[in-house]
Order: sequence, then C-alpha cells, then structure tokens
Amino acid sequence: MQKNKSLVLGITGGIAAYKAAELVRLLVKSGVDVRVVMTESACQFITPVTMQALSGKPVFTGMWNSSVSNGMPHIELSRHADAILVAPASADFMAKLVHGRADDLLSTLCLARDCPLLVAPAMNKQMWENAATQRNIKQLQADGIEILGPDNGEQACGEVGLGRMLEAEDLLYLIEAHFQPKLLKGKNILITAGATLEMIDPVRAITNLSSGKMGYAIAQAAFEMGAEVTLVSGASALKPPLGINTISATSAEAMYQSVMQNIVNQDIFIGVAAVADYSPIITSDQKIKKSESSLTIELKPNKDILAQVASLPNAPFCVGFAAETENILEYAEQKRLRKILPLLVANDASDALGSDHNSVTLLDKNGAHPLPRAPKIEVARLLLQHVAGML
Ligand code: C5P
Repeated sequence: MQKNKSLVLGITGGIAAYKAAELVRLLVKSGVDVRVVMTESACQFITPVTMQALSGKPVFTGMWNSSVSNGMPHIELSRHADAILVAPASADFMAKLVHGRADDLLSTLCLARDCPLLVAPAMNKQMWENAATQRNIKQLQADGIEILGPDNGEQACGEVGLGRMLEAEDLLYLIEAHFQPKLLKGKNILITAGATLEMIDPVRAITNLSSGKMGYAIAQAAFEMGAEVTLVSGASALKPPLGINTISATSAEAMYQSVMQNIVNQDIFIGVAAVADYSPIITSDQKIKKSESSLTIELKPNKDILAQVASLPNAPFCVGFAAETENILEYAEQKRLRKILPLLVANDASDALGSDHNSVTLLDKNGAHPLPRAPKIEVARLLLQHVAGML
C-alpha cells in the first residue's frame, strides 16, 4: 500500500530524534521513498550519516545545497513529496510553524509545501502542558496540520506524563492510515475479535486457537478509512490499536452484553470473533481437584451474537466470518442465508488460524468473490472496500 509514496521526514532537536532512525528503517521497509531533512539542533542528537545510511538518500541539513538542480531544496523537496512528517517536532518548531516562519530549510520547506503536513510532538510534559504550546497545537490543527500523539509515559528528564513522541511503529501505523482513502468517513463500525474463554473453574477454560489478528486488522483498516471504530476483543495477545475504542470481553456472554450495549448508532457490525458455541453450565468457584474417576462437564449453547445483531429491528450492515475446514463455500453460503447476512467472509480455518496471511472468499447475493492470499491487513482493506461499495 505504501509503494510509490514519497515522504519528507523532518527531524528537529530533541532526544526523541533517536526514534526517527527506526522510523526511517520501517518506512523504507514498507516501500516509502524517504528524504530526510534535519535542523541544526537535530544534528546534535543524531548524525546525518545515520539517517543517510538508513534512508539510502542524501540528507539535507541546510538551505544552500548546490547539488539540487535549481539550487532551491525548499521547493524541490516538497514537489516530490506526498506528505511531510516532522518527527520529533520540538515545541519551538511548532511555534515557528504557527507563525509561518522560514529561517531554516525545514521551516521553509513546510511553508513552501503543496502537500499535507503531519507533526509528531516530543517534549517535556511541562512544555507540552504550557498554555503557549496548547494554543499552538490548536492553531496548527485549525490550519489543517495533523498532530500525531504525543504519548504518555516516562520522559528522558525522568518525569512521567504527556509529551513523549509516539514509538516508530505507532507513527508508521498513523502514516499508513493517512495514505488510505477515507471510504468509511462518518461511519460507526463495531467489530468483535479474538477467542472467547469459557471458564470451567478459576484456572481452567474452554477456548480456541483464534489469535485475533484478522479482527484487529479489520479494526485498523476501518480506522485508516476514517470510521469511528469500536473493537470488542476476546482473548488476544495483541496490543489495543491506536485510535480505536477497544473493550475487553472474554466470555461469550460478556461479549454479547458488550456488543448489545454498543450497537446503537452502529452502521456496520463485523463479527470476526471465534465465539465459543458452548460454555459450562456451572463454573466452579474453586479449582476442581483431580481424582481417579472420570469428569463430565455439562455445556450449554451460547447466544449467537451475530445472528442476534442481524435480527435487530434497525440492524446495522452485518458481516460474518465462516472458518471451515471442508466444503468451505457451501457451508459458508448456508451460514450466510441462515444468519440473514448481506455479506459473509469464508476462509479455510486450517490456513488462517494464527497466521499473518489469509485467503478468503467474499459471499454476497451476487455470488462468490475470491480475494488473493495476502497479509491480513491487506485482506481487511479489500474487505472494507467491498463493504463500502455495498453500502
Ligand atoms: O455459526 P458460526 O460460529 O460458524 O459462525 C461464525 C460467525 O458467527 C462469525 O462471524 C462469528 O463471529 C459469529 N458468531 C457469533 N456468536 C456466536 C457464534 C458465532 O457472533 N455465538
């Protein structure tokens, strides 16, 4: 998705400049053409040689570079760029942006740009909380500049609070989001993901092998497309994605309650969670002791969350998943009709579980639409493009 995108990465003076090195590496790995521009103070924290080695391109540190064909790097660089990202952006640099100052290459480039500008602030928490910085942030947003972060946590000065620059992988995630078409802008979407845990006693549970990767990828893709995303997650080792309201609900019953509490005003519901079909009738309060005799655990069927949402009076557009191990398309289409769904995603359970890739077929009233085997995030984007088309 990042192929053929070109980004100018501006680095200003702050200790978070070291994270810019990792960011360049991740951007280049995902296919972005990165040109690095550093302020004089940035060069006190990290060397242009490091950035040149990672980006594989010359690094610009000053206005007067005779190797640029027209001698005007501030114009030349932004002409090639799909966006400019300043990371880290110091409090001072943001103040300069607010006033449209142009006293070094990076600030001049920002002023002379004809592409979007994204800014990742990095500073001490007092500097962040200062009324002047807050006023500047509001002004930058009003000027259409996208502010990424900052993060909360430990700071280089030893204090804890807001002001840390986002981690490189979080910035990559937000840049990827920036480049996606906003096909779901203004839509509310609720997604279930992961496995459920049906407790037998305080230390044992019935569960399954779903990793949550597909559901989380759909949540990410929906966020990238501009939707308001709520993710109801069962058991999953994945970290809650940025920009998404993630609610934890581990049992099938808790997931049902959570979905029903959040379903009003949703435009789209996608049930990706591998919800247990059964749960123990009795959950023992104490650990069940081992004995020589056999043990029977009686199970009761769980509510089908997806079918219940699909049968609500003002049901959102509902999408189901069908993980099968045989007769995949036939079973999946039967499921789509039984649960009365406009769209169902059929996949081979033995291939998809826990994997970073998936190959799925979309089933709707017009028939079967196979998607190419691809990383789950790309499958998620294609699925949501199809949903946006159907809406
Ligand atoms: O009926 P089956 O479990 O095969 O259907 C799978 C689809 O139904 C998935 O989209 C899954 O998230 C959803 N489902 C559900 N609640 C259940 C069982 C399945 O939402 N109790």
